[in-house]
Amino acid sequence: MNPQTYKKLVATQVSSDFKSAIKIITLPLRELTNDEIIIQNKFAGVNAGFDTLLSQGKIPYFKPTPPFELGVEAVGEVVAVGKNITTFKIGDTVATTVRGGGYSEYQVIDANLAIKVPQATPEILTLIPTGISALVALEQVGEMTNQETILVTAAAGGTGHIAVQLAKLAGNHVIGTCGSEAKANLLKKLGCDRVINYRTEDVDEVLQREYPKGINLVFECVGRKMFDICVNHLAIRGRLIVVGFISEYADQLEIVNQPRIYQKLFWKGASVRGFLMPLYQEYSLEARNRLFHLLESGQIQVAIDPTEFRGIESIDSAVDYLLAGKSCGKVVITF
Ligand SMILES: NC(=O)c1ccc[n+]([C@@H]2O[C@H](COP(=O)([O-])OP(=O)(O)OC[C@H]3O[C@@H](n4cnc5c(N)ncnc54)[C@H](OP(=O)(O)O)[C@@H]3O)[C@@H](O)[C@H]2O)c1
Repeated sequence: MNPQTYKKLVATQVSSDFKSAIKIITLPLRELTNDEIIIQNKFAGVNAGFDTLLSQGKIPYFKPTPPFELGVEAVGEVVAVGKNITTFKIGDTVATTVRGGGYSEYQVIDANLAIKVPQATPEILTLIPTGISALVALEQVGEMTNQETILVTAAAGGTGHIAVQLAKLAGNHVIGTCGSEAKANLLKKLGCDRVINYRTEDVDEVLQREYPKGINLVFECVGRKMFDICVNHLAIRGRLIVVGFISEYADQLEIVNQPRIYQKLFWKGASVRGFLMPLYQEYSLEARNRLFHLLESGQIQVAIDPTEFRGIESIDSAVDYLLAGKSCGKVVITF
């Protein structure tokens, strides 16, 4: 028996402070149309960067007017199906990546938006869409080959730990940066060739000493000083993918005053390339199928952060936790 009402997180105003922007609301569970299904979310992935930038009104391509829904990826169970639905039945487990569908106890959506999965486990959330982003960024933007040196920053994070493994699987030497011993241990377990804990070692010095020929490909998630160091250490014809700049999401963007970046790139024939998953959707389906296969065949492992965040009420704490750099693996909400 489905409940009459459910809770979801919405942004009721644009604010630089995530907590001030959001509110938990209770809604009636609406009737299905013939082509829809109702999903009870079991787990949702936390994308603190996207959540914060969205509620700050800082995403140039998507500026919804409040109130708007938050959260993206979720896994759950089908609890009702519309009259026309033959592809799903009650009890099926599904994953979804509907914008606004993640931070919600239930979703009523077009059945075409749901992906059947063997079980509703949080592990799925490390692949859809996080792992997909890592794979598409490395291959399509980074033009990843083999036998190169690849540096992944925030390497023990949700996106980073998949990027590390994909770069290794492709036959590269992989360096990962992280900010704790626990994360360093995870990265060693995942096969990272050189782990740099930036709290105990100086990234710039390590790269200078151990990688004098420079880095061929950088998967850069952090921004600020880490970005500068990575640009400085690009090899001849090196490529740096701007995957994100999480160190700046909670603050105003830093204004830098230094020579233009072409001074650093031109003489090495190097490049800095932006990556934004929504602009590479055509690669998503193939990437998803390949990642599922890699996981099923034991070629990659997935890491879920062990801290439990339970229910809609815990989402702001999970966002804080992630932006404070405490996460190790993918941060998920359990419903
Ligand atoms: N472009 C796209 O389409 C796309 C898609 C998905 C994700 N992303 C980006 O990928 C990056 C990682 O996202 P995620 O969701 O997987 O997060 P995450 O990596 O699981 O967690 C964030 C990690 O960033 C690291 N970090 C380093 N300096 C930080 C600082 N000053 N403040 C906060 N964190 C810091 C922390 O690890 P350490 O301290 O260990 O480094 C932290 O655990 C983000 O920049 C995100 O925006 C981009």
